Amino acid sequence: MTSPYAGWLPPTHTNVISSTHLKGGGTTKTTCAILLGHALSRFGHSVRVVSYDALHSAVSWAEKAQDHLSLTAGAYRPWPENYFVEPANTPEELYGLVHGSTEEFTIIDGGPADPDALQTIARLSHRIILPTEPSMLVAEQVTPVVEYVNEVEEEQGRKIPCQVLLVRVMTGSKLTGTVEDALSAVNISMMKTRIPNNGMVTRAAHTVPTRLYGYEFVAEELLAA
Ligand SMILES: Nc1ncnc2c1ncn2[C@@H]1O[C@H](COP(=O)(O)OP(=O)(O)O)[C@@H](O)[C@H]1O
Ligand SMILES: [Mg+2]
Repeated sequence: MTSPYAGWLPPTHTNVISSTHLKGGGTTKTTCAILLGHALSRFGHSVRVVSYDALHSAVSWAEKAQDHLSLTAGAYRPWPENYFVEPANTPEELYGLVHGSTEEFTIIDGGPADPDALQTIARLSHRIILPTEPSMLVAEQVTPVVEYVNEVEEEQGRKIPCQVLLVRVMTGSKLTGTVEDALSAVNISMMKTRIPNNGMVTRAAHTVPTRLYGYEFVAEELLAA
């Protein structure tokens, strides 16, 4: 059956990047969306994050940081003026906020882990990032995402670069190499940047972070692409 959203395309006036996954909570999608947004904003680009997630943790992050309500924050740092975070609760709201974005970059924090939502996100995206922990189950979780994105590529007759971002990478762990090999063996593309595992990232939630924990390199890689 053809999806009612099959005709939806990304806008041409803003660069839409999604941080999403089929696996549900805890893949670091929201952290990726928010910290990548800060990186792009610090490089001088305007950013809109659209939270497409029932819990809207991205919105709560921005609001708590603006109100200085984090339990872990140090000195108050103002939220950047070129950085906006908005909630979308329906595909139509998502479409409206993505197409209505007047920012240079629009980042979708794609929370819901079902194929329909993933394909809706893909239809509106120029590029997809799949934040993924190096675990033995990783290839299994990534392959179906790539297949759903491939369906949208065929439907729309365009390429949608879809890359794994390895996150929470432990230094010296052999597992990371094993997972990289497993992903390469099934032709899954990976970003060059790896995000190290760092407990400070958890403390950065609900703040304007002082450091970007590797997301500045993700931003550089995207800007160079
Ligand atoms: N690089 C990292 N190192 C350690 N913990 C991380 C890292 N990135 C994210 N986390 C933590 O992982 C948890 C899940 O992250 P979150 O962004 O909320 O995932 P999702 O949006 O996919 O549910 C959070 O507690 C977050 O602070
Ligand atoms: Mg989330």
